[in-house]
Amino acid sequence: MTDKPAVPAHPADPAIPTVDPAQPRTAHTFDGRPYSPGLEGVIAAETELGLVDGANGRLMYRGYRIGDLVAHGTYAAVANLLWTGTWDPRARLAAGRIPSAVMAALRALPRTAKPMDALRTAVSVWGATQVLDWPPTEIQARALTEFSPSALAAFARLRQDLEPIDADPTLDLVSGFLYQLTGERPDKATARALDAYFIVGAEHGLNASTFTARVITSTRSDMASAVAGAIGAMKGPLHGGAPSEVVEQIHKVGSPEHAEKWVRDALARGERLMGFGHRVYRAYDPRAAALRKVVEAMPTKPDWLELAIKVEDVALRVLEEKYPDRPLKTNVEFYAAAVLQGVGLTPDLFPATFALARHAGWTAHVLEQASANRLIRPDARFVGVEERDLPK
Ligand code: ACO
Repeated sequence: MTDKPAVPAHPADPAIPTVDPAQPRTAHTFDGRPYSPGLEGVIAAETELGLVDGANGRLMYRGYRIGDLVAHGTYAAVANLLWTGTWDPRARLAAGRIPSAVMAALRALPRTAKPMDALRTAVSVWGATQVLDWPPTEIQARALTEFSPSALAAFARLRQDLEPIDADPTLDLVSGFLYQLTGERPDKATARALDAYFIVGAEHGLNASTFTARVITSTRSDMASAVAGAIGAMKGPLHGGAPSEVVEQIHKVGSPEHAEKWVRDALARGERLMGFGHRVYRAYDPRAAALRKVVEAMPTKPDWLELAIKVEDVALRVLEEKYPDRPLKTNVEFYAAAVLQGVGLTPDLFPATFALARHAGWTAHVLEQASANRLIRPDARFVGVEERDLPK
């Protein structure tokens, strides 16, 4: 695979200065170029994978609407779609085997380690046991996506002094994950609910962890390094989301008749309501809409679901009153919390479970980046002392 030739930074927009890669890089050549803290507004990649239309509350994977994918697809079919571009509803993924080096590493971790740290470690050690040549392949993407749920389930048991459970190759990926966590094969409806969560978590454009995976790939590193880095990026509270905080918030409200007062008091104290607002969506998050339907069809709903629906109604009304010009709607975390709690996961496993779901998207971005690679290497605007003599 050959790297793409250098192209101007923004060929479509003559108003934005372009960078001439042939020019020598001195401090002075940065003058006049736009600086965007956090790269906000900068287009840093081309993708055919996820389209996040924040203004209209739409999310599509390769053109297919998220609501349709949740209603009619499986996580395996969605992962296959992201990797190959082909919709095959019969696509299958099963829980993978854990290499002995990974198991030894998981056993060596302190029981108090965060599940995200354990997962990142497992992916790193897994990479050291594989031949992951350049360019990365769909086979590698599949192997890593199948491995990680087994590793997380193994750590979740080890920290409770329970022995890990071998993968059952007859189960699909999500059922296999629940089986390896609990030792019980989940009923169809429970597995279906978690599979739906995996579908909505699979891909979301050039977010921080996906960008991290693409940066690592752009150096011609390997699939495991890219995903280990992505897990590290997702671990931060600004990205990994906090469905567990939604659970806490609903518990604090306590009962439906307290919802209105609790919401108004929280806003008066300057607090943010968990599960509302989004940097990109200015409409109801389409993932929340899809998950709400899933939650309502679940046989074991968390006991606080009715209360959560009441809190949502009140919060949407009060947020609209407070910010009439700024739509603050329900985001994916609100109903993700209900699904994850409903399938029996403890809140401290929520972020790592989100990372498992995002494996499909991360690995698809790795393949896409590698297929038209250019080393990602932005510049920094130098604001320090430019040149001086060492003190005598
Ligand atoms: N509750 C109360 N007020 C809010 C909320 C909220 N959930 N979200 C935004 N606001 C307020 C802000 O404080 C700001 O008010 P100000 O102008 O008086 O300072 C105003 O609305 C506009 O804020 P935004 O520009 O929309 O917010 P931003 O893009 O900076 O933040 C974020 C987005 C972080 C998601 C924010 O809405 C938030 O903190 N929500 C609660 C936490 C949450 O649900 N996180 C999960 C997000 S989804 C995910 O990560 C997968």
